[in-house]
Order: sequence, then C-alpha cells, then structure tokens
Amino acid sequence: MIAENLNLEALIARWTPAESDLSINVSGLNHFYGEGETRKQVLYDNNLKIRRGEIVIMTGPSGSGKTTLLTLIGTLRSVQEGNMRVLGNELLGASPATVAELRKKTGFIFQAHNLFESLTAFQNVSMATELVGTSGNESKSRIEATLTRLGLGQRIHYKPRSLSGGQKQRVAVARGIIHRPQLILADEPTAALDAESGREVVTIFQEMARNEDCTIVIVTHDNRILDVADRIVSMVDGQIRTNVLVQRNAVICQILNEFEIFRSLTPQAISQVADKMKLRQYLVGEEIIRQGEMGDEFFVIGSGQVDIEIDGTRVNSLGRGAFFGEVSLIKQQPRNATVRATSNVACFILSKDDFQAVLDSSRSFEEELRNAIFARQ
Ligand SMILES: Nc1ncnc2c1ncn2[C@@H]1O[C@H](COP(=O)(O)OP(=O)(O)O)[C@@H](O)[C@H]1O
Ligand SMILES: [Mg+2]
Repeated sequence: MIAENLNLEALIARWTPAESDLSINVSGLNHFYGEGETRKQVLYDNNLKIRRGEIVIMTGPSGSGKTTLLTLIGTLRSVQEGNMRVLGNELLGASPATVAELRKKTGFIFQAHNLFESLTAFQNVSMATELVGTSGNESKSRIEATLTRLGLGQRIHYKPRSLSGGQKQRVAVARGIIHRPQLILADEPTAALDAESGREVVTIFQEMARNEDCTIVIVTHDNRILDVADRIVSMVDGQIRTNVLVQRNAVICQILNEFEIFRSLTPQAISQVADKMKLRQYLVGEEIIRQGEMGDEFFVIGSGQVDIEIDGTRVNSLGRGAFFGEVSLIKQQPRNATVRATSNVACFILSKDDFQAVLDSSRSFEEELRNAIFARQ
C-alpha cells in the first residue's frame, strides 16, 4: 500500500525532466544503409529522451537497429535524417570538433571488443586515458584498481591472446569507463561474462550513474541485469516500440491498483495503462476542465482536492482516487461540468484514444466505470 503522503509532486518533477536535464534527445530519427538501388532504411522515425544519470536497457530482436542507434548516439556514424542532441550538442551536421569533443566524453563498450593484440590489458586501458589527456600516476592506480575490481588483478600485464573471452570483455569494460565518461554506450557488455563478473560490471555502471550522473545505454538480452534499468526500451524493425520508465510505471501501477475503478484490470493491463498515463499538476484555484468545452482527456486524482461546478454552482467535491472527464469522452459531448482545483492537485491523465483503448480491452473495466458513475449520482 502506497503511503497517503507519497510526494507525487516531487515524482512528477522527476519524471518530466527539463530539456537541460536530458543527455540524449532523439527526434524523428531515420537511418539508411547503402546507396541507390541498394539503399535500405533501417531506422524509422525514432524518438527518445534520456535524462542525465539514467540507466537505459535496450532490447529487441537481432537486426532491429539497436547497434545502429547506439553508434549514431556515439557519433560513430553520421546522423542522416532527424535530430539527435547528445550532451547538449546537435549531431545532425555536427562539426568534426564537436564530434571529437563528444567522443572524449563517451565510453564505448562494443561487442567486438577489438583490443590491441600487442598491448597488455593495462596498456589497452591506458590508451583511453591518454586519449583524453588524463594519463599519469593517478590514472595508473585507477587502471590497476579498476582491472582488479573486474577480477583481472592477476592479469593486468597479460596480452589479449592470453586472456579468455570473458577476461577480454572485462578489459574492454575497463577501457570504456576508465576516463570517467559522461555517457557510456555498451553493446552486450555482459554477454560473455559469468553471473558474478556481469554483476560487478553493472554495479560499476550504477555507481557511475549515481555518483557522476553518467548516462548509460546498454543493449542487452541478458535478463539477469534488468534490475539496474531505470528505463527499458525495446526496438522492433527499426523502431522503438516500447519505452518504459520502470520506477514511474511501478509507482503508477501501485497507485492505480488502489483505485476501485482499476481493480478489474489484469496486472499487465494496468501496467499498459500506467505507461500511457500522463501526470500533470494543477495549482489551487486552477480550472482543470471547463463546462461546455469538448474534452479529450480522462482524469484520475492522484493527490489533492477538486470541486465540481455546474453553471457556476458547486455540486460536489472529489479527492484522491476519484475520476472525472469520462462522460464527455464516452458521449462525445461537451463537458457537463467545470472541475476546479481547491488545493494543489496531481492528476493521472489518459488521452481520449488511450481511454477508449482501455474501455475496449476490458469489458469489466467498462462495467466498473458505469457502476462508479451510477454510484456517484
Ligand atoms: N554496415 C551496414 N551496412 C548495411 N546494412 C547494415 C549495416 N549494419 C547493419 N545493417 C543492417 O541494418 C539493420 C539493423 O542492424 P543493427 O543495427 O546491427 O541491428 P541490431 O543491433 O538490433 O542487431 C539490419 O537489417 C542489418 O542487416
Ligand atoms: Mg547489434
């Protein structure tokens, strides 16, 4: 049971970051491989906003475009169509100087870990610090500490050919994080690892996200590490199909579960509703809907108090868990009342289409709604 005093307002602020809090902002992104006859579109109208310090897990079938998207974010490919802002820089038409700066701030951990065969583990990792100009004694001890932490303490001066696949992968991880990047792009970083070292890798990611506001995008099929995700994104056929902020979804589900009208929905259905719900705040005195206007949203009160007014007269007052706005959506009529916030109010909001989709998906939801409306008279 969620506490009455759950600070919805603070959560809403957290879930609706300002433009300046975003480290990645992709809009209308398309991408093509090949030219002329063989030109083939592989990304279709992708949109994605990721906040600084977020850990994103991206999944999807092979060939769906994950690596392409990751390499575009990392400036390893040029953006062809659409916009992509990364760490405050627009990548469409970005200058070589911008690209070079961004690469220094990015840590890449890619599947083909292409370590230098002639260099030791230490030297391979050291390359990354030299690239950003932070080599020296301080970085020497950091490299040793990081390799040791990743279970390579006995292998620091080994060359790749003397390392197992998993050990090489861990060297690649060390190399990707050693220069304290602001953004880490990792393609299957734990695939070749046993449970214990996979866990160590994601624990390091979590610390970097938490302590340094590092943003981390992990392409993976490894469901052992799902628990670290703030957001789970899935791609199908070149398009982001689902994009779920996990904690937001969990908190909204927990709240919706408490509300009578959602009781009839299955956990999966509630979770889908939670994904679609917008959260919005109203200040005391503010009109939320106005009598006579056409409505296109359905409201559930998450916190606070509202008055219902018809023709200027207050007829009712509603609080947490109550809903309004459905009549106009069901009957395609103008709003039959004005609803005004009498305290600060946080609302869960479904658009008309999403509301209709919930009605269509669940006979019992529609019944619950009718009963609730009936009981309200
Ligand atoms: N360099 C390339 N040239 C041509 N087609 C490519 C290239 N890289 C990937 N593709 C194609 O683009 C699509 C998306 O690939 P990719 O981004 O690697 O997907 P994923 O990482 O999800 O497996 C696939 O159809 C793949 O065959
Ligand atoms: Mg791939």
